[in-house]
Amino acid sequence: MKILAIETSCDDTCAAVLENDRVISNVISSQTDLHKDWGGVVPDIAKRAHQARILPVIMTALKRSQSLSPSGHLPLTRERKTLEYYMKSVDVIAVTKGPGLAIALGVGVKTACELAIKYNKKLVAVNHVEGHILSNLVKNSKGLPEREIELPAICLTVSGGHTKIVLLEKGDHKGTPLQKYTVVGETLDDAAGEALDKAAKLLGLGYPGGPVIERLAMQAGANNNLFELPKPLADKKVLDYSFSGLKTSFYYKIKDWSIEEKNKNLASLAATFQESVFNTLIRKFDLAIDKYEPKTIMASGGVLANMMLRKKLRALARKKKLLIYMPAKIWLNTDNAAMIGRVGWELAKRKEWSDPETLDRDPRLNF
Ligand code: KG4
Ligand code: ZN
Repeated sequence: MKILAIETSCDDTCAAVLENDRVISNVISSQTDLHKDWGGVVPDIAKRAHQARILPVIMTALKRSQSLSPSGHLPLTRERKTLEYYMKSVDVIAVTKGPGLAIALGVGVKTACELAIKYNKKLVAVNHVEGHILSNLVKNSKGLPEREIELPAICLTVSGGHTKIVLLEKGDHKGTPLQKYTVVGETLDDAAGEALDKAAKLLGLGYPGGPVIERLAMQAGANNNLFELPKPLADKKVLDYSFSGLKTSFYYKIKDWSIEEKNKNLASLAATFQESVFNTLIRKFDLAIDKYEPKTIMASGGVLANMMLRKKLRALARKKKLLIYMPAKIWLNTDNAAMIGRVGWELAKRKEWSDPETLDRDPRLNF
């Protein structure tokens, strides 16, 4: 089954082509340059950029899916072909319905519906958070990595918009064991990525903050404990997160520091905040593993691009003597359409079609 997947929930315009669970091509047009001067994503700028880029991004993904040599690199033809030509080989269109930025989601959903109507294709509507979870199961064009999730499994998904611990159990549908999800813990306020972005802004480091904080924290090395920050929701029975208090406490710690003092300690300030966010993530995930006794643990989302967090998660898995899966490629952690196509494949196998005449975005779509 050939799936064309579309993702526009925030500030990346993405399209991918999959053959079942294998990614044949994947295109991400990042808008970071457009938003960074504003210190965050500006919805209207995102919408206009998605509108300008969505069709070229889709066209590039479709072209690449057909013009790669068996080695996956060399184009075999330079012939010009139309969108209509490429759409002939597509069976299903998968699109992110939500959650996300309303007017950004709208561009992807509208485009997907128009294509489905014009070229008479089946349409499936995907939850972005499920996309992040199943990003762990996306394979390359050669079918690698081969991964089996033994259920029950538990997944920590950490991005700029979400921080959730999700339990995966056997569902009722034949052949699709992954569709029973239960959120067992989640942030009550800011997402972890959002907290990193806000701390970076406070330190004058620009947007997005996660990658800059990571670079500085690497320079600081073991110098990551300049001062104590609170341990939010310390009660061991609570599996939820809270990051806004951490951010406020960080703000008050350095409020009266001079610019020189902040600059001199920039790397260890970044490392101190990052360490505290990551230890919070690990602490609750550790408790959730003890409570639900999963056979597999997984993690995903934009913040998983961070090497320190990956290291801490691998150490936790060793401690628990469990297998841990994390997305196989760094680009699979941050927003992409390949993960949307992977969920789309599950929905298509179950024939959970959406009507392109009525499908609408849902910025607050629950999980
Ligand atoms: O998954 P994602 O691309 O979009 C959402 O669904 O939110 O995640 C974006 C978030 C941002 O908060 C960004 O700062 C964070 O992921 N991020 C990182 C790193 N790369 C991206 N955080 C820490 N370290 C990184 N290397
Ligand atoms: Zn995301």
